[in-house]
Amino acid sequence: MPAEEAATETVTLGTAELTSGIPGEGPLKIGEINAWLDKGTNHVTLNVVLPKGMDAGQAAIKGLDANPLTRAKIELGRQLYFEKRLSADSTISCADCHHPDEGWARHTQFGEGIDGQTGNRNSPVSYNRILSDLQFWDGRAASLEEQAVGPIANPIEMGNTHEKAVETLKGIEGYRIQFERIFPDGVTIDNVGKALASFERVVVTGPSPFDFHETVVAMQKAFGDDLEDLDALKEEDPELHDKYTAALADAEAHPMSEAARRGREIFFSARGNCTVCHVGANLTDEKYHNLGVGMEAEEPDWGRFVVTNEEADRGAFKTPTIRNVANTAPYMHDGSQATLEEVVKWYVVGGHPNLHLSKEIKPLDLTESEQADLVEFMKACSGEFTPVTQDRLPE
Ligand code: HEC
Ligand code: HEC
Repeated sequence: MPAEEAATETVTLGTAELTSGIPGEGPLKIGEINAWLDKGTNHVTLNVVLPKGMDAGQAAIKGLDANPLTRAKIELGRQLYFEKRLSADSTISCADCHHPDEGWARHTQFGEGIDGQTGNRNSPVSYNRILSDLQFWDGRAASLEEQAVGPIANPIEMGNTHEKAVETLKGIEGYRIQFERIFPDGVTIDNVGKALASFERVVVTGPSPFDFHETVVAMQKAFGDDLEDLDALKEEDPELHDKYTAALADAEAHPMSEAARRGREIFFSARGNCTVCHVGANLTDEKYHNLGVGMEAEEPDWGRFVVTNEEADRGAFKTPTIRNVANTAPYMHDGSQATLEEVVKWYVVGGHPNLHLSKEIKPLDLTESEQADLVEFMKACSGEFTPVTQDRLPE
């Protein structure tokens, strides 16, 4: 072990601990920022544990080696995420298109940027990014760091230049001193990306009724009949008894309706076929598929094809997460579907025929009530979002 092994600390994500801002009220004062930066614990490298449900992805965490997390860096990223002064006319922040109050997305069809301009894609969610490396509907950004600085200079998003954004931050003392204490090279656009990415990585979804249900199902599968007589179990294996009764109590406190349970069966079955793509801790394969969305247009958005030039990628877009999807309408890369019911119908009819339609997309034989069950299942995949303080920015 190297003599100067840096101190580390382990934290579980999903609570307000890392995202509640520098303690206090109102705009951040220089004295408060200095006191915060003087605390050694705010510079210690954090190892993270994901909350129940997302924890199945613990081994797939991305990006922390290249950009280690610290409390100070996460907090700086939090401020920058809500900072409208990063845009050309101080009107737009990241949160304007990925708002915590609107499921970290936006309920508009397209993201609305500076001067009310819109593009042709729906704002995706900015949570659970810790499990993804490639970003955007077409995966054109190689990392969250690279993605995070894009919108600042995008003419229809924040309409600024990186040079001007850096100048602005250097001119705000509260930011300048944070950058200088956190990064050896102070305020740079790369460091803006690192701070923003650090904040985004700690915004995760908490356990959902589906996850509590899954724990019970997994234990029943593993221990079978042993769990049937709880009194006997208490005698024979008190530890297992306590674990199982705690899991039952959790599931009861976060109930999954009968309809959602039936929907779960369909979601995970060959009949529904959903888990061919919506799989893993974040219920996405992180791959690109053509469902035919928007393919009827005269000049369709070719999605992933524009990045790879591979014919197979024509009209393919990244599989979105199903976690907290009930909070993030409208749906699909072009925001063309208003409800989860509409999305399920899209799958039932087999998507929109086109030359490049995924082989996995074909008509499904599901009754109306089974379709409603699938929607109920997706709603049961909703957990608490990481609470976050939206104000407390430098004066
Ligand atoms: C004007 C609206 C708008 C603003 C402002 C904006 N975004 Fe986005 N964001 C979008 C849209 C639209 C996409 C999808 C674009 C695409 O895929 O081509 C996107 C994509 C993303 C993604 C990729 C998510 C994924 O699943 O691949 C992340 C992360 C993200 N934005 C974070 C940010 C951050 C951080 C900021 C601030 C620096 C920001 N956004 C500012 C609209 C916006
Ligand atoms: C072949 C892979 C594949 C299969 C199978 C699949 N999906 Fe999807 N899903 C995707 C992709 C890719 C998108 C985004 C497509 C786009 O925007 O063009 C998507 C979008 C969605 C959305 C919208 C999410 C959002 O945030 O916009 C929901 C909800 C959804 N799928 C649910 C399901 C359900 C339920 C099933 C099973 C009936 C299913 N999916 C089967 C790949 C798949």
